[in-house]
Amino acid sequence: MNLKRATTGVKKIQPKVFIIDMFLPEGEAWYNIPEFNVLEQNITIPGFSPLYPDAHCTEDGSICQVITGEAEINAASTLSALVYSGVFDLTTTYFLIAGIAGINPKVATIGDVTFARFAVQVALQYEIDAREIPADFPTGYVPQGAVVPNQYPAELYGTEVFELNVALRTAAVAFANKATLYDTAATQAARKLYAYDPAFAGPSSSGPSVVECDSATSDVYFSGALLGEAFENTTTLFTNGLGVYCTTQQEDNATLEVLLRATLAGLTDFSRIILMRTASDFDRPYEGQTAVANLFGDTPAFEPSVQNIYLAGVQVVEGIVSGWADTFEQGVKASNYIGDVFGSLGGEPDFGPGSTGSSIPERTGGRKRMLRSF
Ligand SMILES: *[C@@H]1O[C@H](CO)[C@@H](O)[C@H](O)[C@H]1NC(C)=O
Ligand SMILES: *[C@@H]1O[C@H](CO)[C@@H](O)[C@H](O)[C@H]1NC(C)=O
Ligand SMILES: *[C@@H]1O[C@H](CO)[C@@H](O)[C@H](O)[C@H]1NC(C)=O
Repeated sequence: MNLKRATTGVKKIQPKVFIIDMFLPEGEAWYNIPEFNVLEQNITIPGFSPLYPDAHCTEDGSICQVITGEAEINAASTLSALVYSGVFDLTTTYFLIAGIAGINPKVATIGDVTFARFAVQVALQYEIDAREIPADFPTGYVPQGAVVPNQYPAELYGTEVFELNVALRTAAVAFANKATLYDTAATQAARKLYAYDPAFAGPSSSGPSVVECDSATSDVYFSGALLGEAFENTTTLFTNGLGVYCTTQQEDNATLEVLLRATLAGLTDFSRIILMRTASDFDRPYEGQTAVANLFGDTPAFEPSVQNIYLAGVQVVEGIVSGWADTFEQGVKASNYIGDVFGSLGGEPDFGPGSTGSSIPERTGGRKRMLRSF
């Protein structure tokens, strides 16, 4: 398609749903499916990843897809290019983040499909190598501006936590629950290894199912009981106990920061974002396994997790499109706070320093300062 015509012409593509995937296997889950064909239009967008230069849309433009490239820098760069391209009218578009993730066996299991209320940038902290930490530190991660682990950060960048529309999540979960999820014998066998540990037995040993729990973003792909627990604690700390860490991925806070800024610019609606992550691997070993073996061992749930992106996700996409006139065009009103820790979109965050009774940190001089514009 001619980009110049698209940007200057009157008629922009106005998707009802924009699917956001991060790498090819997640993207391909949506190709050659009976429900719709997003390869009917390929639109090259300046600023997209060289690996994935095109946005893909159905002929009528109602359903589109982007593959961002992996980790925070690719996610933020691609999403920014998308929202500021001028090719699309995204003011009423629902964004479905649809990717695979690591999973916390205390909360859910491989093959599960999760929907998040909170996305937490857990690695946005100071770090000391575990071999050099003081004896009384349970982890080498210390929140920025704090002096010990698990102390509320004194410096906020604003991307630490994003909260999404709970009413929309409830609708998405209801759609996803119509899916028959895919599972394999190898995945079932891998789940069983976790059942011996009482901390994991319930949530990790049966499945796959649809679960409401929250997502952690970190460029660092980590493995192990201690880092898993450290980031559980970070999620609890940053969300004032509201968030439950279950999935770990490398993009979502970046994607959400772009959509928050685009909402401030009047280009997107932050109440129309669904964060769906399916579980491909455990974030920590089972009892008796090492962290290294967990990291480098087999991942039998990779294929089911990719399949379940489509199986659950297509129900969400079709639910929104078929319920457009009745419900989704006008939007699903959020009854919870949505946005970031600064209250950028208005309202009072139910997490962050304001809700702990301490005040929002002052701007500080020096190398590390809080980047907030009042
Ligand atoms: C869009 O690109 C895909 C490959 O990425 C190709 O299979 C498809 O035919 C293309 N669609 C059009 C309309 O050219
Ligand atoms: C990332 O976003 C999630 C929710 O979308 C939020 O809960 C989390 O706090 C964010 N993390 C950071 C570090 O901003
Ligand atoms: C997580 O928090 C718990 C409870 O405060 C604490 O006992 C534990 O040492 C912490 N773990 C890590 C790895 O930070």
